[in-house]
Amino acid sequence: MVSREIVPGVFWVGALDFDRRIFDELIPLPSGTSYNAYLIRGSEKTALIDTVDPTKEFDLISNLVKLGIDRIDYIIINHAEQDHAGSLPMVLEFFPDAMVVTNEKCRDLLIALLHLPVEKFRVVKDRETLTLGDRTLEFILTPWTHWPETQVTYLREDRILFPCDLFGYHTATSDLYVTERADFYIPAKRYYAEIMMPFRNSIRGHLETIRALKIDLIAPSHGPVHKNPHLILEAYADWVSDAVKNEVVIPYVSMHGSTSKMVEHFTEALIARGVTVRPFNLTHTDIGELALSLVDAATVVIATPTVLFGPHPQVVSAAYLTNLLKPKMRYASVIGSYGWGGKVPETIVKMLDHVKVEVLEPVMVKGLPDEKTFAALDRLADEIARKHKENNIL
Ligand code: FEO
Repeated sequence: MVSREIVPGVFWVGALDFDRRIFDELIPLPSGTSYNAYLIRGSEKTALIDTVDPTKEFDLISNLVKLGIDRIDYIIINHAEQDHAGSLPMVLEFFPDAMVVTNEKCRDLLIALLHLPVEKFRVVKDRETLTLGDRTLEFILTPWTHWPETQVTYLREDRILFPCDLFGYHTATSDLYVTERADFYIPAKRYYAEIMMPFRNSIRGHLETIRALKIDLIAPSHGPVHKNPHLILEAYADWVSDAVKNEVVIPYVSMHGSTSKMVEHFTEALIARGVTVRPFNLTHTDIGELALSLVDAATVVIATPTVLFGPHPQVVSAAYLTNLLKPKMRYASVIGSYGWGGKVPETIVKMLDHVKVEVLEPVMVKGLPDEKTFAALDRLADEIARKHKENNIL
Protein backbone atom coordinates (compact mmCIF):
# COMPACT_ATOMS: atom_id res chain seq x y z
CA MET A 1 0.00 0.00 0.00
CA VAL A 2 1.06 3.62 -0.48
CA SER A 3 0.68 6.33 2.12
CA ARG A 4 -0.39 9.76 0.92
CA GLU A 5 -0.11 13.23 2.43
CA ILE A 6 -3.44 15.01 2.87
CA VAL A 7 -2.05 18.29 4.23
CA PRO A 8 1.55 18.83 5.34
CA GLY A 9 2.22 16.43 8.20
CA VAL A 10 -1.09 14.53 7.95
CA PHE A 11 -0.98 11.24 6.06
CA TRP A 12 -3.44 8.59 4.93
CA VAL A 13 -1.77 5.34 6.01
CA GLY A 14 -4.66 2.87 5.65
CA ALA A 15 -5.38 -0.15 3.47
CA LEU A 16 -7.50 -0.74 0.39
CA ASP A 17 -9.41 -4.02 0.26
CA PHE A 18 -10.36 -4.42 -3.40
CA ASP A 19 -11.40 -8.06 -3.02
CA ARG A 20 -13.68 -7.98 -0.01
CA ARG A 21 -17.25 -8.74 -1.04
CA ILE A 22 -19.12 -9.02 2.26
CA PHE A 23 -18.99 -7.20 5.58
CA ASP A 24 -20.21 -8.55 8.93
CA GLU A 25 -21.14 -11.65 6.87
CA LEU A 26 -24.24 -9.66 5.95
CA ILE A 27 -23.60 -6.54 3.88
CA PRO A 28 -22.61 -6.99 0.24
CA LEU A 29 -19.61 -4.89 -0.85
CA PRO A 30 -19.95 -4.49 -4.63
CA SER A 31 -16.76 -2.43 -4.90
CA GLY A 32 -14.73 -3.57 -1.90
CA THR A 33 -13.86 -1.24 0.95
CA SER A 34 -11.01 0.59 2.59
CA TYR A 35 -9.87 0.84 6.19
CA ASN A 36 -8.47 4.33 6.57
CA ALA A 37 -5.96 5.22 9.23
CA TYR A 38 -4.28 8.62 9.49
CA LEU A 39 -0.94 9.69 10.89
CA ILE A 40 -0.52 13.19 12.29
CA ARG A 41 2.90 14.60 12.99
CA GLY A 42 2.93 17.39 15.56
CA SER A 43 5.97 19.41 16.54
CA GLU A 44 6.26 17.38 19.75
CA LYS A 45 4.10 14.28 19.44
CA THR A 46 2.90 11.90 16.74
CA ALA A 47 -0.58 10.42 16.68
CA LEU A 48 -2.17 7.63 14.69
CA ILE A 49 -5.93 7.86 14.20
CA ASP A 50 -7.56 4.43 14.03
CA THR A 51 -5.91 1.28 12.69
CA VAL A 52 -7.10 -1.14 9.98
CA ASP A 53 -8.81 -4.50 9.69
CA PRO A 54 -6.48 -7.20 11.06
CA THR A 55 -6.39 -8.87 7.62
CA LYS A 56 -4.51 -5.76 6.42
CA GLU A 57 -2.37 -5.02 9.46
CA PHE A 58 0.90 -5.43 7.55
CA ASP A 59 -0.25 -2.78 5.04
CA LEU A 60 -0.56 -0.31 7.90
CA ILE A 61 2.78 -1.25 9.45
CA SER A 62 4.45 -1.10 6.05
CA ASN A 63 3.01 2.40 5.42
CA LEU A 64 4.35 3.60 8.76
CA VAL A 65 7.77 2.04 8.17
CA LYS A 66 8.02 3.53 4.67
CA LEU A 67 7.21 6.95 6.12
CA GLY A 68 10.12 6.51 8.52
CA ILE A 69 7.91 6.62 11.61
CA ASP A 70 9.97 5.33 14.53
CA ARG A 71 7.77 6.61 17.32
CA ILE A 72 4.03 6.93 17.86
CA ASP A 73 2.94 8.64 21.06
CA TYR A 74 -0.82 8.30 20.78
CA ILE A 75 -3.13 5.91 18.98
CA ILE A 76 -6.55 7.50 18.85
CA ILE A 77 -9.36 4.96 18.58
CA ASN A 78 -12.67 6.49 17.53
CA HIS A 79 -14.57 3.21 17.39
CA ALA A 80 -13.89 -0.28 18.73
CA GLU A 81 -15.15 -2.39 15.81
CA GLN A 82 -12.42 -4.68 14.53
CA ASP A 83 -12.19 -3.24 11.02
CA HIS A 84 -10.71 -0.10 12.63
CA ALA A 85 -9.30 -1.24 15.94
CA GLY A 86 -8.39 -4.83 15.14
CA SER A 87 -4.76 -4.08 14.31
CA LEU A 88 -4.18 -2.31 17.59
CA PRO A 89 -2.31 -5.27 19.17
CA MET A 90 0.06 -5.39 16.19
CA VAL A 91 0.63 -1.61 16.20
CA LEU A 92 1.36 -1.75 19.93
CA GLU A 93 3.94 -4.46 19.32
CA PHE A 94 5.77 -2.22 16.87
CA PHE A 95 5.25 0.95 18.95
CA PRO A 96 5.20 -0.28 22.57
CA ASP A 97 5.47 3.22 24.07
CA ALA A 98 2.26 4.44 22.44
CA MET A 99 -0.76 5.16 24.60
CA VAL A 100 -4.23 4.31 23.31
CA VAL A 101 -6.45 7.38 23.61
CA THR A 102 -10.20 6.94 23.64
CA ASN A 103 -13.31 7.37 25.76
CA GLU A 104 -14.22 5.12 28.66
CA LYS A 105 -16.86 3.05 26.86
CA CYS A 106 -14.55 2.46 23.92
CA ARG A 107 -11.72 1.46 26.26
CA ASP A 108 -13.93 -1.11 27.94
CA LEU A 109 -15.00 -2.55 24.59
CA LEU A 110 -11.41 -2.68 23.34
CA ILE A 111 -10.36 -4.57 26.45
CA ALA A 112 -13.23 -7.03 25.89
CA LEU A 113 -12.60 -7.44 22.17
CA LEU A 114 -8.80 -7.39 22.04
CA HIS A 115 -7.72 -8.30 25.60
CA LEU A 116 -5.51 -5.24 25.92
CA PRO A 117 -4.16 -4.23 29.34
CA VAL A 118 -6.00 -1.34 31.01
CA GLU A 119 -2.74 0.54 31.66
CA LYS A 120 -2.24 1.08 27.91
CA PHE A 121 -5.18 3.49 27.84
CA ARG A 122 -5.59 7.19 28.36
CA VAL A 123 -9.29 7.95 28.76
CA VAL A 124 -10.70 11.20 27.41
CA LYS A 125 -14.01 12.96 28.01
CA ASP A 126 -16.28 14.84 25.66
CA ARG A 127 -14.58 17.95 24.18
CA GLU A 128 -11.28 17.13 25.88
CA THR A 129 -8.17 18.13 23.91
CA LEU A 130 -4.74 16.59 23.43
CA THR A 131 -1.79 18.63 22.22
CA LEU A 132 0.75 17.33 19.73
CA GLY A 133 2.79 20.57 20.10
CA ASP A 134 1.71 22.77 17.22
CA ARG A 135 -1.43 20.74 16.63
CA THR A 136 -4.45 20.02 18.83
CA LEU A 137 -6.82 17.11 18.75
CA GLU A 138 -10.31 17.59 20.17
CA PHE A 139 -12.46 14.57 20.99
CA ILE A 140 -16.20 14.79 20.58
CA LEU A 141 -18.17 11.88 21.98
CA THR A 142 -20.97 10.85 19.64
CA PRO A 143 -22.55 7.80 21.30
CA TRP A 144 -25.04 5.82 19.24
CA THR A 145 -24.12 7.36 15.95
CA HIS A 146 -23.37 3.68 15.31
CA TRP A 147 -22.11 1.95 18.46
CA PRO A 148 -22.43 3.25 22.05
CA GLU A 149 -18.75 4.20 22.22
CA THR A 150 -18.36 6.07 18.93
CA GLN A 151 -16.50 9.39 18.96
CA VAL A 152 -15.07 11.75 16.36
CA THR A 153 -11.73 13.53 16.48
CA TYR A 154 -11.23 17.08 15.25
CA LEU A 155 -7.82 18.40 14.27
CA ARG A 156 -8.32 22.05 15.12
CA GLU A 157 -5.48 23.82 13.32
CA ASP A 158 -6.03 21.98 10.02
CA ARG A 159 -9.83 21.87 10.42
CA ILE A 160 -9.99 18.15 9.62
CA LEU A 161 -12.71 15.93 11.09
CA PHE A 162 -11.92 12.22 11.59
CA PRO A 163 -15.36 10.65 12.18
CA CYS A 164 -14.47 6.97 11.62
CA ASP A 165 -17.55 5.21 10.15
CA LEU A 166 -19.78 8.29 10.12
CA PHE A 167 -19.81 10.01 6.67
CA GLY A 168 -17.78 7.17 5.13
CA TYR A 169 -18.79 4.54 2.61
CA HIS A 170 -17.60 1.20 1.37
CA THR A 171 -15.44 1.42 -1.70
CA ALA A 172 -11.87 0.54 -2.55
CA THR A 173 -10.60 3.30 -4.77
CA SER A 174 -7.18 4.69 -5.50
CA ASP A 175 -8.71 8.19 -5.43
CA LEU A 176 -7.79 9.88 -2.19
CA TYR A 177 -10.56 12.46 -2.43
CA VAL A 178 -14.23 12.69 -3.23
CA THR A 179 -15.10 16.08 -4.59
CA GLU A 180 -18.48 16.07 -6.38
CA ARG A 181 -21.86 15.08 -4.95
CA ALA A 182 -22.30 12.68 -7.86
CA ASP A 183 -19.15 10.83 -6.80
CA PHE A 184 -20.37 9.79 -3.40
CA TYR A 185 -24.10 10.27 -3.07
CA ILE A 186 -25.47 6.79 -3.81
CA PRO A 187 -22.72 4.69 -2.15
CA ALA A 188 -22.73 6.97 0.91
CA LYS A 189 -26.52 6.79 1.13
CA ARG A 190 -26.35 3.01 0.87
CA TYR A 191 -23.76 2.96 3.64
CA TYR A 192 -25.95 5.23 5.75
CA ALA A 193 -28.87 2.85 5.18
CA GLU A 194 -26.90 -0.26 6.12
CA ILE A 195 -24.97 1.11 9.08
CA MET A 196 -26.30 4.42 10.36
CA MET A 197 -30.05 4.50 9.72
CA PRO A 198 -31.05 2.70 12.96
CA PHE A 199 -29.42 5.61 14.83
CA ARG A 200 -31.07 8.39 12.84
CA ASN A 201 -32.30 10.30 15.89
CA SER A 202 -28.93 10.21 17.68
CA ILE A 203 -27.11 11.26 14.54
CA ARG A 204 -29.47 14.20 14.10
CA GLY A 205 -28.45 15.58 17.50
CA HIS A 206 -24.72 15.07 16.99
CA LEU A 207 -24.91 16.51 13.48
CA GLU A 208 -25.72 19.90 15.00
CA THR A 209 -22.52 19.79 17.06
CA ILE A 210 -20.46 18.72 14.06
CA ARG A 211 -21.94 21.35 11.76
CA ALA A 212 -20.95 24.03 14.26
CA LEU A 213 -17.26 23.18 13.69
CA LYS A 214 -15.21 24.82 10.97
CA ILE A 215 -14.36 21.86 8.74
CA ASP A 216 -12.20 21.89 5.61
CA LEU A 217 -11.89 18.11 5.21
CA ILE A 218 -13.80 15.10 6.49
CA ALA A 219 -11.52 12.08 6.62
CA PRO A 220 -13.64 9.00 7.39
CA SER A 221 -12.37 5.48 7.94
CA HIS A 222 -14.02 3.95 4.86
CA GLY A 223 -13.84 5.45 1.38
CA PRO A 224 -12.20 8.66 0.20
CA VAL A 225 -11.75 11.98 2.01
CA HIS A 226 -14.46 14.61 1.52
CA LYS A 227 -12.98 17.82 0.13
CA ASN A 228 -16.34 19.60 0.13
CA PRO A 229 -17.63 18.61 3.57
CA HIS A 230 -20.88 20.54 3.24
CA LEU A 231 -22.04 18.10 0.54
CA ILE A 232 -21.97 15.04 2.79
CA LEU A 233 -23.20 17.04 5.80
CA GLU A 234 -26.20 18.29 3.80
CA ALA A 235 -26.89 14.78 2.54
CA TYR A 236 -26.88 13.45 6.11
CA ALA A 237 -29.14 16.28 7.29
CA ASP A 238 -31.65 15.20 4.65
CA TRP A 239 -31.39 11.47 5.38
CA VAL A 240 -31.82 11.85 9.15
CA SER A 241 -34.69 14.31 8.79
CA ASP A 242 -38.31 13.19 9.07
CA ALA A 243 -38.98 13.99 5.41
CA VAL A 244 -40.11 11.03 3.29
CA LYS A 245 -40.68 10.74 -0.45
CA ASN A 246 -43.62 9.66 -2.57
CA GLU A 247 -42.15 6.16 -2.91
CA VAL A 248 -43.34 2.62 -2.22
CA VAL A 249 -40.87 -0.22 -1.67
CA ILE A 250 -42.17 -3.73 -2.36
CA PRO A 251 -39.91 -6.54 -1.10
CA TYR A 252 -41.44 -9.77 -2.41
CA VAL A 253 -41.10 -13.46 -3.11
CA SER A 254 -43.34 -15.55 -5.35
CA MET A 255 -43.24 -19.36 -5.45
CA HIS A 256 -45.73 -20.22 -8.21
CA GLY A 257 -46.53 -16.83 -9.73
CA SER A 258 -49.62 -15.68 -7.77
CA THR A 259 -47.78 -13.15 -5.63
CA SER A 260 -45.73 -11.87 -8.55
CA LYS A 261 -48.96 -11.27 -10.53
CA MET A 262 -50.21 -9.19 -7.59
CA VAL A 263 -46.92 -7.28 -7.38
CA GLU A 264 -47.01 -6.61 -11.11
CA HIS A 265 -50.57 -5.27 -11.00
CA PHE A 266 -49.93 -3.25 -7.84
CA THR A 267 -46.74 -1.74 -9.27
CA GLU A 268 -48.61 -0.58 -12.37
CA ALA A 269 -51.47 0.76 -10.24
CA LEU A 270 -49.06 2.86 -8.19
CA ILE A 271 -47.20 4.13 -11.26
CA ALA A 272 -50.54 5.14 -12.78
CA ARG A 273 -51.22 7.18 -9.63
CA GLY A 274 -47.90 9.02 -9.83
CA VAL A 275 -46.14 7.07 -7.07
CA THR A 276 -42.54 5.92 -7.47
CA VAL A 277 -42.31 2.15 -6.96
CA ARG A 278 -39.32 -0.03 -6.16
CA PRO A 279 -40.11 -3.75 -6.27
CA PHE A 280 -37.39 -6.09 -5.02
CA ASN A 281 -37.56 -9.80 -5.82
CA LEU A 282 -35.84 -11.11 -2.71
CA THR A 283 -34.59 -14.28 -4.40
CA HIS A 284 -31.95 -12.19 -6.17
CA THR A 285 -31.96 -8.82 -4.43
CA ASP A 286 -28.80 -7.23 -3.08
CA ILE A 287 -29.98 -6.32 0.44
CA GLY A 288 -27.85 -3.17 0.32
CA GLU A 289 -30.03 -1.96 -2.57
CA LEU A 290 -33.14 -2.76 -0.56
CA ALA A 291 -31.77 -0.88 2.47
CA LEU A 292 -30.88 2.10 0.25
CA SER A 293 -34.45 2.28 -1.05
CA LEU A 294 -35.80 2.36 2.51
CA VAL A 295 -34.01 5.61 3.43
CA ASP A 296 -36.66 7.91 1.94
CA ALA A 297 -39.68 5.75 1.08
CA ALA A 298 -42.96 6.76 2.70
CA THR A 299 -44.48 3.29 2.38
CA VAL A 300 -43.43 -0.37 2.37
CA VAL A 301 -45.72 -3.09 1.08
CA ILE A 302 -44.42 -6.58 1.77
CA ALA A 303 -45.59 -9.25 -0.66
CA THR A 304 -45.38 -12.94 0.12
CA PRO A 305 -46.82 -16.36 -0.56
CA THR A 306 -47.85 -18.47 2.43
CA VAL A 307 -45.45 -21.22 3.49
CA LEU A 308 -46.81 -23.58 6.15
CA PHE A 309 -49.20 -20.92 7.56
CA GLY A 310 -46.66 -18.09 7.62
CA PRO A 311 -44.72 -15.74 5.35
CA HIS A 312 -41.96 -17.05 3.10
CA PRO A 313 -38.67 -17.27 5.12
CA GLN A 314 -36.90 -14.84 2.76
CA VAL A 315 -39.68 -12.33 3.37
CA VAL A 316 -39.29 -12.90 7.11
CA SER A 317 -35.61 -12.09 6.74
CA ALA A 318 -36.36 -8.87 4.80
CA ALA A 319 -39.03 -7.81 7.31
CA TYR A 320 -36.65 -8.50 10.19
CA LEU A 321 -33.93 -6.46 8.50
CA THR A 322 -36.35 -3.60 7.82
CA ASN A 323 -37.35 -3.58 11.47
CA LEU A 324 -33.68 -3.54 12.55
CA LEU A 325 -32.81 -0.68 10.21
CA LYS A 326 -35.76 1.42 11.46
CA PRO A 327 -36.43 3.49 8.34
CA LYS A 328 -38.57 6.58 8.70
CA MET A 329 -41.44 5.18 6.62
CA ARG A 330 -45.00 6.14 7.59
CA TYR A 331 -47.21 3.39 6.13
CA ALA A 332 -46.98 -0.37 5.67
CA SER A 333 -49.14 -3.13 4.27
CA VAL A 334 -48.98 -6.76 3.19
CA ILE A 335 -50.17 -8.45 0.04
CA GLY A 336 -49.92 -12.07 -1.08
CA SER A 337 -51.58 -15.40 -1.57
CA TYR A 338 -52.31 -18.56 0.40
CA GLY A 339 -53.43 -22.10 -0.26
CA TRP A 340 -55.41 -23.16 2.78
CA GLY A 341 -54.99 -20.45 5.42
CA GLY A 342 -52.49 -18.77 7.67
CA LYS A 343 -51.71 -15.57 9.52
CA VAL A 344 -49.29 -13.87 7.19
CA PRO A 345 -50.26 -10.18 7.66
CA GLU A 346 -50.39 -10.49 11.45
CA THR A 347 -46.98 -12.19 11.55
CA ILE A 348 -45.34 -9.53 9.38
CA VAL A 349 -46.94 -6.58 11.17
CA LYS A 350 -45.75 -7.98 14.52
CA MET A 351 -42.23 -8.10 13.09
CA LEU A 352 -42.31 -4.36 12.36
CA ASP A 353 -42.64 -3.32 15.99
CA HIS A 354 -39.65 -0.92 15.89
CA VAL A 355 -41.02 0.98 12.94
CA LYS A 356 -43.71 3.50 13.71
CA VAL A 357 -46.15 2.96 10.87
CA GLU A 358 -49.82 3.09 10.13
CA VAL A 359 -50.82 -0.34 8.79
CA LEU A 360 -53.04 -0.18 5.72
CA GLU A 361 -55.59 -2.95 5.02
CA PRO A 362 -53.68 -6.00 3.63
CA VAL A 363 -54.76 -7.78 0.45
CA MET A 364 -54.52 -11.58 0.66
CA VAL A 365 -56.03 -13.99 -1.88
CA LYS A 366 -56.65 -17.72 -1.90
CA GLY A 367 -54.77 -19.10 -4.89
CA LEU A 368 -54.49 -17.09 -8.08
CA PRO A 369 -55.44 -13.40 -7.95
CA ASP A 370 -58.67 -12.57 -9.78
CA GLU A 371 -60.52 -9.40 -10.71
CA LYS A 372 -61.65 -8.91 -7.10
CA THR A 373 -58.04 -9.14 -5.97
CA PHE A 374 -56.93 -6.60 -8.56
CA ALA A 375 -59.73 -4.26 -7.49
CA ALA A 376 -58.56 -4.57 -3.87
CA LEU A 377 -54.99 -3.80 -4.96
CA ASP A 378 -56.29 -0.74 -6.83
CA ARG A 379 -58.02 0.41 -3.65
CA LEU A 380 -54.77 -0.03 -1.69
CA ALA A 381 -52.92 1.97 -4.36
CA ASP A 382 -55.62 4.68 -4.13
CA GLU A 383 -55.26 4.84 -0.37
CA ILE A 384 -51.46 5.11 -0.53
CA ALA A 385 -51.56 7.83 -3.20
CA ARG A 386 -54.18 9.73 -1.20
CA LYS A 387 -52.28 9.50 2.09
CA HIS A 388 -49.06 10.63 0.42
CA LYS A 389 -50.86 13.59 -1.15
CA GLU A 390 -52.76 14.58 1.99
CA ASN A 391 -49.50 14.57 3.96
CA ASN A 392 -47.66 16.58 1.34
CA ILE A 393 -45.29 13.69 0.59
CA LEU A 394 -43.79 14.61 -2.78
FE1 FEO B 1 -16.27 0.33 9.88
FE2 FEO B 1 -18.32 0.01 12.65
O1 FEO B 1 -16.89 -0.36 11.50
